[in-house]
Amino acid sequence: MEERVVSQEAFEEEHQLELSIRPQTFAQYIGQKKVKENLEVFIKAAQLREECLDHVLLYGPPGLGKTTLAVIIANEMGVNLRTTSGPAIERPGDVATILTQLEPGDVLFIDEIHRLPRSVEEVLYPAMEDYSIDIVIGKESTARSIRLDLPPFTLIGATTRAGMLSAPLRDRFGVHGRLEYYTISELTEIVLRSGELLGVTMQKKAAEEIARRSRGTPRIANRLLRRVRDFAQVAGEEKIHKEITCQALERLQVDRLGLDDIDHQLLRTIIEKFQGGPVGIEAIAAAIGEDVNTLEDVYEPYLLQIGFLIRTPRGRMVANEAYHHLNIEVTDQ
Ligand SMILES: Nc1ncnc2c1ncn2[C@@H]1O[C@H](COP(=O)(O)OP(=O)(O)O)[C@@H](O)[C@H]1O
Ligand SMILES: [Mg+2]
Repeated sequence: MEERVVSQEAFEEEHQLELSIRPQTFAQYIGQKKVKENLEVFIKAAQLREECLDHVLLYGPPGLGKTTLAVIIANEMGVNLRTTSGPAIERPGDVATILTQLEPGDVLFIDEIHRLPRSVEEVLYPAMEDYSIDIVIGKESTARSIRLDLPPFTLIGATTRAGMLSAPLRDRFGVHGRLEYYTISELTEIVLRSGELLGVTMQKKAAEEIARRSRGTPRIANRLLRRVRDFAQVAGEEKIHKEITCQALERLQVDRLGLDDIDHQLLRTIIEKFQGGPVGIEAIAAAIGEDVNTLEDVYEPYLLQIGFLIRTPRGRMVANEAYHHLNIEVTDQ
């Protein structure tokens, strides 16, 4: 979602880099202690019973490591990972094809699972519960339904907001993992690890600066690291130190807290056009020309987390801390 403005080549180059730094094992996966430790227990237990892992639902804002966890789970279980996404599966037949091609124990990862059509969800219910699907063959008067057995498998679903998932689907996942924003020290560790994999030398202070400005999100930390590396390289710096990092981040218009242009617009719009709120998200989106879903999935959660936005039944309000950060005087409160 955040990558939408880059060209296809740039996208592919970033994608390659992304693959090279993505953790492949729990040992390499930094932070998310609770989710990780629970998953490790469930995986061990499943292996002791020679069963496959129960279905896992992962939720949390973009870039926190949901896809990475799916990769790791498949690796740790020693099984194949099949990947698809909610928007890619249009008809019940599409999901039936995927399911019947699974091998015993495989992990099927469905990203953006909240975007599955209802008719597809209905195929998943018996598949998840009994490892079987009902398919209709023939047409009209000769149509009949037959039941097909599937191999045991693990479904891993990922979504940015669990509330967007239908209740019957949500209830069929035995394991729910909620990913949280990372701490600065966890992100520092991630940046140092990525730097090593990319072959750059950097000061710990520089890594910390990137971490502080990454909105608790490893994907953003890795992206900022790559951009800082570009600036350092062009400036002829052998080592990434704090000064070049701050300069680069300034140029990228990432502020002291990691807020970017859209965050600023969002906060300023509420302050300037809506007297600080409360105001509905639709009105804010219209005023700044952004997509409501992007604001809700990508921008709002972090602003809520750091206390700059407050949710009320009548809409969003800007907190005093945000006025201070933007150097705007608090007037009518
Ligand atoms: N716990 C982690 N430790 C180290 N790197 C991580 C971790 N979580 C995510 N990353 C990095 O951030 C990138 C984005 O993670 P990803 O799994 O694609 O997020 P999501 O699927 O939640 O949007 C990954 O490619 C990986 O390099
Ligand atoms: Mg993902």
